[in-house]
Amino acid sequence: MREGTAPVIRREDYRAPAFWIRRADLVFDLDPAKTIVASRLEIERNADRPGEPLRLHGEGLNLMRVLADGESVSFRHEDGQLVIDHPPAAEHFVLEVRNTCAPDKNTELSGLYTSNGSFFTQCEAEGFRRITYFLDRPDVMAVYTITLRADKARYPVLLSNGNLVEQGDLDSGRHFAKWHDPYPKPSYLFALVAGRLVAREQRVKSRGGRDHLLQIYVRPGDLEKTEHALKSLVASLIWDEARFGLALDLERFMIVAVGDFNMGAMENKGLNIFNTQYVLANAATATDADFEAIESVVGHEYFHNWTGNRITCRDWFQLSLKEGLTVFRDQEFSMDMAGSDSARAVRRIDAVRTLRQSQFPEDAGPMSHPVRPDSYMAIDNFYTTTVYEKGAEVVRMMHTLVGRDGFARGMKLYFQRHDGQAVTCDDFAQAIADANPESPLAQQLDTFKRWYSQAGTPRLHARGVHDTEQRSWTLTLRQHAEPSPGQADKQPFVLPVALGLLDHGGRALALHLQGEAAPRGHQALLVLSQAEQSFVFTDVDTPPVPSLLRGFSAPVLLDDGLSDAELLLLLAHDSDAFNRWEASQRLALARLLAALQGPALLQLDHAFIGAMRDLLRAPGLDAAFKEMALTLPSESYIAESLDKADPQRIHSVREQALDQLGDHLHDDWLWAWNQHQVSAGYDPGPKQAGARWPTWRWRCCAAMPCATGRTPGPAVPSSA
Ligand code: SER
Ligand code: ZN
Repeated sequence: MREGTAPVIRREDYRAPAFWIRRADLVFDLDPAKTIVASRLEIERNADRPGEPLRLHGEGLNLMRVLADGESVSFRHEDGQLVIDHPPAAEHFVLEVRNTCAPDKNTELSGLYTSNGSFFTQCEAEGFRRITYFLDRPDVMAVYTITLRADKARYPVLLSNGNLVEQGDLDSGRHFAKWHDPYPKPSYLFALVAGRLVAREQRVKSRGGRDHLLQIYVRPGDLEKTEHALKSLVASLIWDEARFGLALDLERFMIVAVGDFNMGAMENKGLNIFNTQYVLANAATATDADFEAIESVVGHEYFHNWTGNRITCRDWFQLSLKEGLTVFRDQEFSMDMAGSDSARAVRRIDAVRTLRQSQFPEDAGPMSHPVRPDSYMAIDNFYTTTVYEKGAEVVRMMHTLVGRDGFARGMKLYFQRHDGQAVTCDDFAQAIADANPESPLAQQLDTFKRWYSQAGTPRLHARGVHDTEQRSWTLTLRQHAEPSPGQADKQPFVLPVALGLLDHGGRALALHLQGEAAPRGHQALLVLSQAEQSFVFTDVDTPPVPSLLRGFSAPVLLDDGLSDAELLLLLAHDSDAFNRWEASQRLALARLLAALQGPALLQLDHAFIGAMRDLLRAPGLDAAFKEMALTLPSESYIAESLDKADPQRIHSVREQALDQLGDHLHDDWLWAWNQHQVSAGYDPGPKQAGARWPTWRWRCCAAMPCATGRTPGPAVPSSA
């Protein structure tokens, strides 16, 4: 985190650069103490900004030489920039710079650094300027050719972005490798790796018939822990081609794991660099959650190859353009990999839990900021859950408003218009809307885009009134947003509200909106774009139970006023798995809070216990989903729901609830345990991972005083 006296940078001050760098040829003589970087930059003047000096970013570098079109040129240093007041007047010229940097001393891990005797880079957001002088801003996209030279014994592997075009030996035990990346990219996507590494690799053919080499590089000894990462990479390739028609555009795609790394992972073109945590796993030491995280992060970085790398951000205010969209894509990937509806819901529940636990508090506190911030002092401080997770929810709402096919059309148009460019969040939203001109997104695009500019979590209040005589049910939706720092008055948001209605027998009603010729089926999408709107449903004989915001269709705090009985009905019958889970959590929380706030001991009621039993035994539900619905709200979540929290009481009341569920459902747990025995060898896939949970759950139940004294035996996955 950087702060202090840095000037504030504002989005509204954006100007295209005075110069572009079209090609960058860099030669590295790698040495931990003093690496020499010789760069040859093909520069083009921006005709809209004539007569301006050429300013290159540079931080912590030693400058040795500057030549412009082969001639020496005068320069000066100002505010961390190398300023050339009088570059050649021609539209195109070549600048040659030679400088050194000290990778061994680089403890910030930004730029070029060493870890365990190998070289690595991290250039997002502004690390490239710590390697050489450059226009280190994302809208300057160049084609790079990189030559790495180093001692062959110490650094047998030399990697950079793109395709390997040449390699060979040099004098004095040194060797070289030359890499060329044919796609223009911003400097933050540059990477190099040099060291003693080994790779697990696989050749694959894309649908178009192109051959690709996929490689996972690690330190010798870690190779047996890379199988899952490679499998995840293959799955990511297949998925992006199938779902979005986006194929790998390079001959080679490499992932390198490093122990010292500032971020989780980084999407450098063709050479992703990962924290070991998101690469290394084997059945003996990693959990199901570790395997799942690897799949998701490998997918995330791979999907950046198109959303972030082929089309990048015009400036860092647009960070969510690539991050929100790519988180959305990795979430969809994880969901598509999960299989059944309720297993998909598990992934959605996970994402929503993260959003509620991290982003909602951020949005309610002093750090609250819009998905597309208006100003910053250090962009490093803006890699937040708002930009990432809330940004993904904004993309998901667009997806909901235009539909799955409409979104695919929008993505296609986005790439037709902007491939190879550095663009804005507005450009993205415009492409999705333009590809779907009849959609509610296109019709209210400006209003929708308030999601990019207004911070804070909106509150949604929903109440229905039934009219027996008219046989109608009127749902009134009202939204409200509390002030955020610097944003006192907010305009209404566009909220897509997916809903269904259930009768008191739990049957789904056909949804017929007043004024429409025919019913819409059993689920409808209402779009709230004003402070308050009412929607009238006809042919409704009795007061229905609404299932609102299905799949968490908008990132809001919902107040639907549903009673305990209504929630029990949703828990038992809602076709939307997300809302079934939501009902289970609300029912459990209400009981825990009642016990914590009142004098009485916790006594779980038959209705709740029966509902939990039915859920546990429900034949159509995925085991992993049952786990989520049967897991009581965490102690920290309970604490957040109380004005004054007493951690010990919270712990003991929650334990009482677990005891009672354990006792009352004893036979059901035993049944579940027997049902879900995993006999095959360990497989981290969702099916086996889902089946594994009751065996673990049983252990916690078995530790309690047990009514019958039966012991279920060891509950460890067979291969663990
Ligand atoms: N750009 C990186 C990522 O999100 C940094 O976190 O994958
Ligand atoms: Zn990312």
